[in-house]
Amino acid sequence: MLFRVILGIHLTAIAAWLGGMLFFLLVLRPASKKMIYPEISRGIGRIFQEVSEISLWVIIGSGLLLSLNRLLLANIQASYLVVLVVKVGLVVWIVLIAMNVWGRVSRARPASEIKPSIANRILRVVWSTNTQLILAVVVIFLAEILRVIYNRSL
Ligand code: HEM
Repeated sequence: MLFRVILGIHLTAIAAWLGGMLFFLLVLRPASKKMIYPEISRGIGRIFQEVSEISLWVIIGSGLLLSLNRLLLANIQASYLVVLVVKVGLVVWIVLIAMNVWGRVSRARPASEIKPSIANRILRVVWSTNTQLILAVVVIFLAEILRVIYNRSL
């Protein structure tokens, strides 16, 4: 029962976070690139940052509780642990990208100031919001694998 409640919180925060990220990618970023109402998009950017920040910490907190619940109360298989460690590793990457994006939103530099080298461009792909979205899809897939491994071990 407790697991279901925490899972509900985990999934709600994921929905808020993914929704915010899609809004950022599909609406806010194209608008700020075209410099349409820069002040408005900067203001919305800050709200996006707050929602994204809170959601991500709720996801991590509830994720830790879910992990504790599974690891303490169940006879967990090694494969479950391996997938969980990979999932947490990818979440760390997601958080680092988020912190970088939040920093950029706060600084709000015009794109024309940045003249990236090739190494910088690769870094920007590794740390981009697009990569974050791909990682989120992989993490959700890993969560499904966790559920399958757990159900099989019952
Ligand atoms: C962006 C971050 C995250 C995403 C998108 C995500 C996604 C999900 C999803 C979709 C589920 C539900 C699977 C299902 O029952 O169908 C889930 C469950 C779970 N998540 Fe996360 N999660 C994230 C972060 C974390 C973190 C940081 C942890 C651990 C510290 C974690 C631990 C778990 C655990 C243990 C479950 C239960 C798996 C099971 O059924 O045994 N999650 N997650």
